[in-house]
Amino acid sequence: MTPPRRQSARHRTAVLATVPAAVAALLGAAAPTAPGTGAPGAGDPYFPLSGNGGYDVRHYDLTLRYDTTSRRLDATAVLSARATQRLTRFDLDLKGLKVSAVTVDRTPAAFRRDGQELVVTPRHALKAGHEFRVAVAYHGTPKPVTDPDGSADGWIPTDDGAFVAGEPQGPMTWFPVNGHPKDKASYDFTITVPKGRTAVANGVLLGQRTAHGRTTFRWRETQPMAAYLATATIGTFRVEQYTTRDGVQVYNAVDAREARAAGPVLKKLPSVLEWESKLFGPYPFRAAGAIVDHAPDVGYALETQTRPVYDRAPDLGTLVHESAHQWFGDSVSLTAWKDIWLNEGFATYAEWLYDEQHGGRSAQQSFDALYARPASDGLWAYPPGDPGSGARIFGTPVYARGAMALHELRRTVGDRDFFRILRAWADGHRGGHGTTAQFVRLAEEKSGKQLKELFHTWLYTRGKPNSA
Ligand code: ARG
Ligand code: ZN
Repeated sequence: MTPPRRQSARHRTAVLATVPAAVAALLGAAAPTAPGTGAPGAGDPYFPLSGNGGYDVRHYDLTLRYDTTSRRLDATAVLSARATQRLTRFDLDLKGLKVSAVTVDRTPAAFRRDGQELVVTPRHALKAGHEFRVAVAYHGTPKPVTDPDGSADGWIPTDDGAFVAGEPQGPMTWFPVNGHPKDKASYDFTITVPKGRTAVANGVLLGQRTAHGRTTFRWRETQPMAAYLATATIGTFRVEQYTTRDGVQVYNAVDAREARAAGPVLKKLPSVLEWESKLFGPYPFRAAGAIVDHAPDVGYALETQTRPVYDRAPDLGTLVHESAHQWFGDSVSLTAWKDIWLNEGFATYAEWLYDEQHGGRSAQQSFDALYARPASDGLWAYPPGDPGSGARIFGTPVYARGAMALHELRRTVGDRDFFRILRAWADGHRGGHGTTAQFVRLAEEKSGKQLKELFHTWLYTRGKPNSA
């Protein structure tokens, strides 16, 4: 599809699915593995080959060298992982690129490629519980994948570098990965680019050094991060660094072509984070910022952990949205893509709350404007709780009806309990995962009300619901 000119994906309407849900579910189920063999997928029916089974990654140490002219990447990835079962072999996700060597615990390992799987056979079987280290040397010209909704995802070359985002399947386009949000890890990045270019990843900048016409940037994200939230965006950027009153280290990188439009919005970042901290609880990370690229073909922004990446200067609503994801989506992660409303419905509702508390329309007015849409409108095309295929996960029902579900909750339990629920959610699952069932249980616990029917109606029932 042609990406919309201006708005981020959160405003686009879903297009056709290329993989029907039934086929995807079948593929997910059709992964019988020999004993000792790690599964090729994490069991998510929406993206059956995304992630793998049999181990947990603790840490990724990525060393990347990118030539912005030839678009060639030379890289080494060192993964520290723990076997969750006995493993005679295991899979990593990696699409394209050429692997030159793999070692497991510093011993050369056999490997083969099978579609998006890199199948590794260590010389000796790994015992259940064994902590091991996999090093993969690889190179080539990374190319993005096309998601079911038609958008490019992963390593997306630009005229001065690369826009790197990965939701939902992009990480495998630039590093060998256990690419499902179930498996979160910490990250180190060492990225070398031609002098004059800047490489921006997640977390804090440990240092940068220029020698022989190249600059190396070292970044570290110590908080657990889902792989799709990793970035290594490269471009010609103007950089701004400061520390907020709360001690959060901000690093903004802005393409000069977007600087004028981005300036006034980025100035608001500290106040947006402060406002969200009051509402949702303490900001979950040590670092923050923005990467404002000039990547007009991308068509969306992504809440890359600590430092969202924008394909163009964001408007304030988009900044509020991607910032809210730091709590909802990044700190508290999905265990299955069907729960995507826990990310997008929450971030959209944060925009409504921001408007409401900053002299704009009330959340009720935002709700009413949507609710006025006729039953034939795309908003009601499918319920958001299990949208049903890869293409639908970024559709209007997930964002807008997901936010409406939260508004219904708020009206039912009242403001005090509603905000207690949001804070308890962010706090109780901080740095981890959450499911819709857990959210419903929490909401019932905090409010003392029966809420299953409300969520059943707003998340899982087809057609336009009756409003309470
Ligand atoms: N999570 C992003 C946002 O809320 C949208 C990512 C869209 N990705 C995609 N491949 N279409 O803004
Ligand atoms: Zn979003």
